[in-house]
Amino acid sequence: MKKLFCLFVAAAMVATGAIPAPRYLPEMPAVSGAYQILPCGTVRAHDEAGAFYAAKTLVSGRMPSGRMLADAPKYAWRGLHVDVSRHFFEPEVLCRLMDVMAELKLNRLHLHLTDGPGWRLEIKRYPRLTSEGAWRKKLGPGHWEWKDFDIGSSYPELYGGFYTQKDMRALIAYAAERHIVIVPEIDVPGHSYAALVAYPELSMLPQGTPVKECQVGKDVLDVRKPAVLAFTQGVLDEVMQIFPPGNPIHLGGDEVDTRLISREAQRTYMQALVDYVAARGYQPITWDEAACNGVKGQWVMLWRPEFAAQIMSAGYPVILSPCSHFYFDYPQSEADFPHPGGGHIISTEMVFTYKAPRSPLILGMQANLWSEHIRTPQQLFYMAFPRALALAERAWGSPPRSYESFLQSADAWMSRKEMMLQRLP
Ligand code: ACM
Repeated sequence: MKKLFCLFVAAAMVATGAIPAPRYLPEMPAVSGAYQILPCGTVRAHDEAGAFYAAKTLVSGRMPSGRMLADAPKYAWRGLHVDVSRHFFEPEVLCRLMDVMAELKLNRLHLHLTDGPGWRLEIKRYPRLTSEGAWRKKLGPGHWEWKDFDIGSSYPELYGGFYTQKDMRALIAYAAERHIVIVPEIDVPGHSYAALVAYPELSMLPQGTPVKECQVGKDVLDVRKPAVLAFTQGVLDEVMQIFPPGNPIHLGGDEVDTRLISREAQRTYMQALVDYVAARGYQPITWDEAACNGVKGQWVMLWRPEFAAQIMSAGYPVILSPCSHFYFDYPQSEADFPHPGGGHIISTEMVFTYKAPRSPLILGMQANLWSEHIRTPQQLFYMAFPRALALAERAWGSPPRSYESFLQSADAWMSRKEMMLQRLP
């Protein structure tokens, strides 16, 4: 309706001579988010997202004066990921992040809802996932892998939190108003320590053995047990009740020690989940390990760039999220050292100059904010910006410009944003 309205207004104004008609109106690309702004400020848009982005551009004042602007995104997926498991971020923090994402025309917020240190989404049929799995108890030294885990710190006895289903529905609605899709991730079968604490019968350990540490690669659901598939499907049933049909659902599938669970057993389990979600009209996604292991029918989030060629030659649609360039928990410069989480420097310039492989299979790009060592909203925003500005330009496919020119606008943007960052909870 809005699209028709915009087209009508533009056409009527040009037809009545109210504005000088451009010599030609270029064809509108048939992609979500495409828009055109005529010199008088009239908007034509492919869809509501396009009208929304046109309004953002008009407000930003970044219009070429006296000329028509025809703009469209290169990639459909322009994402940021927040790991809300390692450290929990309140809904309000995610809303502030989405406000900024919308300004930058970023349109996917991937929430890593489950991992060893905390299960963050209410699942009514498995209440212990959040009554137990969302809260870290004070443990003796050596029980958690994270070097700066909060044992003995100023946190009270319990640290944690989770999103109720009502919270999540409110977040989805808030996102939709900003043309952002929230992508929930239930990361299985690895990274499942929190689920195993809540339901130890899902683990590989003999009944009664206490589940101990959160060890990447070893904190696995025992996918050979039929009860584990039933559990995971039960969780996904509720996820699918919360999220609208067609929504992407990320199933994880990364970093499982194949000496514990064979590749074949992992493949069978992950394939069953991919098929389960797809059969119900949702879009399954996994990390690249599952594709390397032969799971079929999903989109792949590629975090290990060395597997790009293999995955794309196998025909998977891909979201580029390489740890070489888009892991925003890695340090930004020497100024970030000592950096507790390791990783090489990923400077804003590296993000800005990132060259994506050329392939029609590439759906887009996403930067990941893993939060083992990001404890506060302030740290989250510090790590995200200004790198997310550079990501947004690459993901939108903005015309090339010099890094110096980018830096000037990034500096201006960062100082405008200062006040907002200070208002974070
Ligand atoms: C990942 O970094 N394990 C996706």
